[in-house]
Amino acid sequence: MESHSMFAELLFADKAKYVAAKRAVEFVEDGMKLGLGTGSTAAWMVRCLAERVHKEGLRIQGVPTSTRTADLARELGLEVITLDEAGRLDITIDGTDEFDANLSLIKGGGGALLQEKIVASASDKMIVIADFDKRVTHLGQFPLPIEVLGFGLKSSQSQIAGLLTAQDVAGREITTRMAGDVPFVTDEGNYILDLHLGKIVDPKKLAIALNQVPGVVENGLFINICDLVVLGASDGTVEEQTKS
Ligand code: A5P
Repeated sequence: MESHSMFAELLFADKAKYVAAKRAVEFVEDGMKLGLGTGSTAAWMVRCLAERVHKEGLRIQGVPTSTRTADLARELGLEVITLDEAGRLDITIDGTDEFDANLSLIKGGGGALLQEKIVASASDKMIVIADFDKRVTHLGQFPLPIEVLGFGLKSSQSQIAGLLTAQDVAGREITTRMAGDVPFVTDEGNYILDLHLGKIVDPKKLAIALNQVPGVVENGLFINICDLVVLGASDGTVEEQTKS
Protein backbone atom coordinates (compact mmCIF):
# COMPACT_ATOMS: atom_id res chain seq x y z
CA MET A 1 0.00 0.00 0.00
CA GLU A 2 1.32 3.50 -0.83
CA SER A 3 2.31 5.55 2.22
CA HIS A 4 -0.24 8.37 1.82
CA SER A 5 -3.23 6.03 1.52
CA MET A 6 -1.83 3.91 4.36
CA PHE A 7 -1.81 6.99 6.63
CA ALA A 8 -5.43 7.92 5.77
CA GLU A 9 -6.68 4.47 6.72
CA LEU A 10 -4.93 4.24 10.07
CA LEU A 11 -6.74 4.45 13.40
CA PHE A 12 -6.19 7.64 15.41
CA ALA A 13 -3.59 6.16 17.81
CA ASP A 14 -1.75 4.36 15.03
CA LYS A 15 -1.26 7.58 13.05
CA ALA A 16 1.04 9.05 15.70
CA LYS A 17 3.05 5.84 15.93
CA TYR A 18 3.27 5.51 12.16
CA VAL A 19 4.58 9.04 11.50
CA ALA A 20 7.17 8.73 14.30
CA ALA A 21 8.30 5.36 12.89
CA LYS A 22 8.45 6.69 9.35
CA ARG A 23 10.62 9.65 10.35
CA ALA A 24 12.94 7.45 12.45
CA VAL A 25 13.69 5.03 9.60
CA GLU A 26 14.89 8.02 7.54
CA PHE A 27 18.04 7.83 9.71
CA VAL A 28 18.79 4.37 8.28
CA GLU A 29 21.47 4.15 5.59
CA ASP A 30 22.50 1.40 3.21
CA GLY A 31 24.67 -1.27 4.87
CA MET A 32 23.63 -0.49 8.43
CA LYS A 33 23.12 -3.03 11.19
CA LEU A 34 20.04 -2.14 13.22
CA GLY A 35 18.46 -3.05 16.51
CA LEU A 36 14.76 -3.66 16.03
CA GLY A 37 12.63 -2.78 19.06
CA THR A 38 9.48 -4.39 20.40
CA GLY A 39 5.92 -3.13 20.86
CA SER A 40 3.17 -1.60 18.75
CA THR A 41 5.20 1.52 17.79
CA ALA A 42 8.29 -0.54 16.97
CA ALA A 43 6.13 -2.81 14.81
CA TRP A 44 5.34 0.26 12.67
CA MET A 45 9.07 0.92 12.42
CA VAL A 46 9.66 -2.63 11.13
CA ARG A 47 6.93 -2.13 8.50
CA CYS A 48 8.33 1.28 7.44
CA LEU A 49 11.83 -0.21 7.27
CA ALA A 50 10.63 -3.09 5.11
CA GLU A 51 8.95 -0.56 2.82
CA ARG A 52 12.27 1.28 2.34
CA VAL A 53 14.17 -1.98 1.85
CA HIS A 54 11.80 -3.15 -0.87
CA LYS A 55 11.39 0.23 -2.59
CA GLU A 56 14.98 1.45 -2.46
CA GLY A 57 16.90 -1.84 -2.41
CA LEU A 58 18.46 -0.82 0.92
CA ARG A 59 20.71 -3.57 2.34
CA ILE A 60 20.30 -3.72 6.10
CA GLN A 61 20.60 -6.40 8.76
CA GLY A 62 18.37 -6.37 11.82
CA VAL A 63 18.80 -7.70 15.34
CA PRO A 64 15.32 -8.16 16.85
CA THR A 65 14.67 -7.61 20.56
CA SER A 66 11.99 -10.31 20.88
CA THR A 67 10.60 -13.35 19.11
CA ARG A 68 7.57 -11.20 18.16
CA THR A 69 9.75 -8.68 16.35
CA ALA A 70 11.87 -11.43 14.78
CA ASP A 71 8.74 -13.08 13.39
CA LEU A 72 7.44 -9.79 11.97
CA ALA A 73 10.80 -8.83 10.45
CA ARG A 74 11.21 -12.22 8.73
CA GLU A 75 7.60 -12.15 7.54
CA LEU A 76 8.29 -8.78 5.86
CA GLY A 77 11.46 -10.07 4.21
CA LEU A 78 14.08 -8.34 6.39
CA GLU A 79 17.40 -10.05 7.04
CA VAL A 80 17.55 -11.07 10.69
CA ILE A 81 20.85 -11.79 12.46
CA THR A 82 21.83 -12.33 16.09
CA LEU A 83 23.57 -9.65 18.17
CA ASP A 84 26.69 -11.82 18.33
CA GLU A 85 26.75 -12.09 14.55
CA ALA A 86 26.31 -8.32 14.25
CA GLY A 87 28.82 -7.20 16.88
CA ARG A 88 28.26 -3.45 17.22
CA LEU A 89 25.04 -1.94 15.83
CA ASP A 90 24.66 1.41 14.08
CA ILE A 91 21.19 2.36 15.35
CA THR A 92 18.49 0.81 17.51
CA ILE A 93 14.97 2.11 17.01
CA ASP A 94 12.50 1.18 19.74
CA GLY A 95 9.37 2.38 21.51
CA THR A 96 9.06 3.37 25.15
CA ASP A 97 6.48 3.43 27.92
CA GLU A 98 7.65 6.77 29.33
CA PHE A 99 10.49 9.24 28.78
CA ASP A 100 11.57 12.39 30.62
CA ALA A 101 13.56 15.52 29.75
CA ASN A 102 16.88 13.65 30.27
CA LEU A 103 15.68 11.00 27.80
CA SER A 104 15.61 8.47 30.64
CA LEU A 105 13.07 5.79 29.84
CA ILE A 106 10.79 3.21 31.40
CA LYS A 107 10.59 0.22 29.08
CA GLY A 108 9.32 -3.31 29.34
CA GLY A 109 5.56 -2.90 29.14
CA GLY A 110 5.73 -5.58 26.47
CA GLY A 111 8.04 -7.74 28.60
CA ALA A 112 11.08 -7.45 26.31
CA LEU A 113 13.19 -5.07 28.41
CA LEU A 114 16.20 -7.39 28.81
CA GLN A 115 16.89 -7.94 25.12
CA GLU A 116 15.91 -4.33 24.43
CA LYS A 117 18.50 -2.99 26.88
CA ILE A 118 21.26 -5.33 25.67
CA VAL A 119 20.61 -4.42 22.04
CA ALA A 120 20.29 -0.66 22.67
CA SER A 121 23.50 -0.68 24.73
CA ALA A 122 25.34 -2.36 21.85
CA SER A 123 24.30 0.43 19.47
CA ASP A 124 26.07 3.65 18.51
CA LYS A 125 22.72 5.45 18.65
CA MET A 126 19.32 4.71 20.16
CA ILE A 127 16.30 6.43 18.66
CA VAL A 128 13.04 6.14 20.57
CA ILE A 129 9.74 6.53 18.76
CA ALA A 130 6.69 7.60 20.72
CA ASP A 131 3.53 9.62 20.82
CA PHE A 132 3.17 12.65 23.09
CA ASP A 133 1.39 10.68 25.84
CA LYS A 134 4.72 9.00 26.65
CA ARG A 135 6.41 12.30 27.64
CA VAL A 136 6.42 12.82 31.43
CA THR A 137 7.93 15.23 33.95
CA HIS A 138 8.78 12.40 36.35
CA LEU A 139 9.09 8.73 35.41
CA GLY A 140 7.02 6.26 37.42
CA GLN A 141 3.37 6.67 36.55
CA PHE A 142 3.85 3.63 34.29
CA PRO A 143 4.71 0.58 36.45
CA LEU A 144 8.45 -0.15 36.31
CA PRO A 145 9.11 -3.70 35.01
CA ILE A 146 11.90 -5.74 36.60
CA GLU A 147 12.99 -9.04 35.00
CA VAL A 148 13.67 -11.57 37.76
CA LEU A 149 14.83 -15.20 37.85
CA GLY A 150 12.18 -17.78 38.77
CA PHE A 151 14.53 -19.24 41.40
CA GLY A 152 13.88 -17.46 44.68
CA LEU A 153 11.35 -15.10 43.13
CA LYS A 154 9.63 -14.31 46.45
CA SER A 155 12.96 -13.67 48.13
CA SER A 156 14.02 -11.28 45.35
CA GLN A 157 10.64 -9.54 45.61
CA SER A 158 11.04 -8.94 49.35
CA GLN A 159 14.58 -7.62 48.86
CA ILE A 160 13.24 -5.23 46.23
CA ALA A 161 10.48 -4.15 48.62
CA GLY A 162 13.18 -3.56 51.26
CA LEU A 163 15.31 -1.37 49.04
CA LEU A 164 12.31 0.68 47.93
CA THR A 165 11.87 1.95 51.50
CA ALA A 166 15.12 3.93 51.05
CA GLN A 167 14.10 5.34 47.65
CA ASP A 168 12.26 8.61 47.03
CA VAL A 169 9.18 7.18 45.29
CA ALA A 170 5.47 7.91 45.66
CA GLY A 171 4.25 4.28 45.84
CA ARG A 172 5.78 0.89 46.67
CA GLU A 173 3.34 -1.80 45.51
CA ILE A 174 4.85 -4.75 43.61
CA THR A 175 2.82 -7.11 41.40
CA THR A 176 3.80 -10.17 39.37
CA ARG A 177 3.13 -9.75 35.64
CA MET A 178 0.47 -12.26 34.59
CA ALA A 179 -0.53 -13.79 31.28
CA GLY A 180 -4.10 -14.73 32.10
CA ASP A 181 -4.06 -17.07 35.12
CA VAL A 182 -0.33 -17.83 34.99
CA PRO A 183 2.77 -15.67 35.44
CA PHE A 184 4.08 -14.07 32.27
CA VAL A 185 7.34 -15.69 31.12
CA THR A 186 9.89 -13.63 29.15
CA ASP A 187 11.76 -14.75 26.03
CA GLU A 188 14.65 -15.63 28.36
CA GLY A 189 12.43 -17.78 30.62
CA ASN A 190 12.29 -15.29 33.49
CA TYR A 191 9.47 -13.46 35.30
CA ILE A 192 8.49 -9.79 35.49
CA LEU A 193 7.72 -7.85 38.66
CA ASP A 194 5.92 -4.54 38.07
CA LEU A 195 6.78 -1.78 40.56
CA HIS A 196 3.95 0.73 41.03
CA LEU A 197 6.02 3.73 42.09
CA GLY A 198 3.92 6.67 40.95
CA LYS A 199 6.90 9.03 40.85
CA ILE A 200 10.62 8.21 40.71
CA VAL A 201 12.65 11.17 41.96
CA ASP A 202 16.11 9.69 41.18
CA PRO A 203 15.86 7.09 38.37
CA LYS A 204 19.64 6.51 38.16
CA LYS A 205 19.97 5.77 41.89
CA LEU A 206 17.01 3.38 41.71
CA ALA A 207 18.34 1.59 38.60
CA ILE A 208 21.71 0.97 40.29
CA ALA A 209 20.07 -0.24 43.53
CA LEU A 210 17.70 -2.65 41.76
CA ASN A 211 20.50 -4.37 39.86
CA GLN A 212 22.30 -5.11 43.16
CA VAL A 213 19.56 -7.53 44.24
CA PRO A 214 20.55 -11.15 43.53
CA GLY A 215 17.96 -12.64 41.21
CA VAL A 216 17.25 -9.37 39.42
CA VAL A 217 18.31 -9.87 35.83
CA GLU A 218 17.60 -6.33 34.61
CA ASN A 219 15.37 -3.35 35.30
CA GLY A 220 13.30 -1.33 32.84
CA LEU A 221 15.00 2.01 33.51
CA PHE A 222 17.11 3.06 30.52
CA ILE A 223 19.48 5.79 31.74
CA ASN A 224 21.89 7.55 29.34
CA ILE A 225 21.06 5.09 26.57
CA CYS A 226 18.59 7.02 24.42
CA ASP A 227 20.02 9.74 22.14
CA LEU A 228 16.91 11.04 20.41
CA VAL A 229 13.13 10.77 20.77
CA VAL A 230 11.03 11.11 17.63
CA LEU A 231 7.52 12.13 18.67
CA GLY A 232 4.59 11.59 16.36
CA ALA A 233 1.15 13.21 16.58
CA SER A 234 -2.06 11.90 15.08
CA ASP A 235 -2.34 14.98 12.80
CA GLY A 236 0.78 13.69 11.05
CA THR A 237 3.28 16.15 12.54
CA VAL A 238 6.58 14.98 14.02
CA GLU A 239 8.89 16.54 16.61
CA GLU A 240 12.39 15.53 17.62
CA GLN A 241 13.63 15.82 21.20
CA THR A 242 17.20 15.59 22.43
CA LYS A 243 18.41 15.87 26.03
CA SER A 244 17.48 19.19 27.61
C1 A5P B 1 8.46 -3.71 25.14
O1 A5P B 1 8.99 -4.50 26.13
C2 A5P B 1 8.42 -2.28 25.57
O2 A5P B 1 9.60 -1.78 26.06
C3 A5P B 1 7.87 -1.40 24.47
O3 A5P B 1 8.88 -0.82 23.72
C4 A5P B 1 7.09 -0.35 25.10
O4 A5P B 1 6.22 -1.01 25.99
C5 A5P B 1 6.32 0.51 24.12
O5 A5P B 1 5.31 -0.22 23.52
P1 A5P B 1 4.20 0.46 22.63
O6 A5P B 1 4.90 1.03 21.46
O7 A5P B 1 3.28 -0.68 22.24
O8 A5P B 1 3.51 1.48 23.46
